[in-house]
Amino acid sequence: MNTWAIRQVAEKIKASTRVVVLTGAGISQESGVPTFRGADGLWKNFRAEDLATPEAFDRDPLLVWQWYDWRRSLIKLLKPNAGHYALVELEKKAEDFTLITQNVDGLHKAAGSRNPIEMHGTLWRVRCLQCKKSFENKEVPIQIPPKCTTCGGLLRPDVVWFGEALDEKILHAIYTCLQRVEVMLIVGTSAIVQPAASFGLVAKRAGAFVTELNRSRTAQSSLFDCSIQGKAGELLPQLVEHIGP
Ligand code: APR
Repeated sequence: MNTWAIRQVAEKIKASTRVVVLTGAGISQESGVPTFRGADGLWKNFRAEDLATPEAFDRDPLLVWQWYDWRRSLIKLLKPNAGHYALVELEKKAEDFTLITQNVDGLHKAAGSRNPIEMHGTLWRVRCLQCKKSFENKEVPIQIPPKCTTCGGLLRPDVVWFGEALDEKILHAIYTCLQRVEVMLIVGTSAIVQPAASFGLVAKRAGAFVTELNRSRTAQSSLFDCSIQGKAGELLPQLVEHIGP
C-alpha cells in the first residue's frame, strides 16, 4: 500500500519543478528528540504556559533557561537521521525547493539542508531583550541567566513562543511559495499549531498536490491528496529512491 502511494508521490515530484516540504517534531523523533504531543511528548510532562510563553519568561527567566539548557544539552548529543538526509537529497533533485520547519533543534542544517526556513526560530540563537540583537550561541551548559556581551541585557532563546507573532518577512516568504508550489510534503507534524497547521490547506487550495507523511493519521489526513503512515526516517529515503537520479 505504502509503496504504491510513495511511487505516486515520486511521479508527481518528477513531473514538477516547485516542491515545498513542511516538517515538525516527528522528523526528529528517530534522532531521539522528544516530540511535543506524542506519548513521550514534552507537553505531556511540562506545561507550555510555564515554559514557552513570554509571560513565563517575565515571571521566571531562570526556570525557563534551565528548561532550554536541558533541551540544548540533550539535542547537542543527537545526530540527524535518514529522514533529514533524504530531504537534503530531495533538495538536490528538485529545481525549486523550499524546506520549512517548525523545529528548533537545528538538525536540518546539521544534515546539510541549505537554507531551511526555521519558522519557530532555533535553540542555537539567543536574543537580547535590551538591545534586540541576536547571536549564535551553542554553549552547553549555558551560563544562567545568560547576559548580552554587547550591552549586558538579559538574553532569551531566539525562538517563537506561544502567543508571539511570527516574523513578518518569514511569513510573507512562506505564503508566497505556498501560492506557487506544485507538490507539498507535510512530514511529522500533528497539524495543530497555527499558522503551520494551515499551510497544507493553503497550498492545496492554490492547486498543489499535498501529501502527508506521518507515523499516525492526523485530523487533516483526509483533507490531503495522499496520506502515508510510517516513520519519516523510512518513508523519505524510499521516496527519494523512487524519484531516482
Ligand atoms: N515519523 C513520522 N511522524 C512521526 C514520527 C516519525 N518517526 N514520530 C512522531 N511522528 C508524528 C506524530 O504522529 C505527530 O503527528 O509527528 C507529529 C508530532 O507532533 P507534535 O509533537 O505536535 O509536533 P509539531 O506538530 O511539530 O508541533 C508543532 O508545537 O509546541 C509547539 O512550537 C512547538 O513547533 C512545535 C509546534
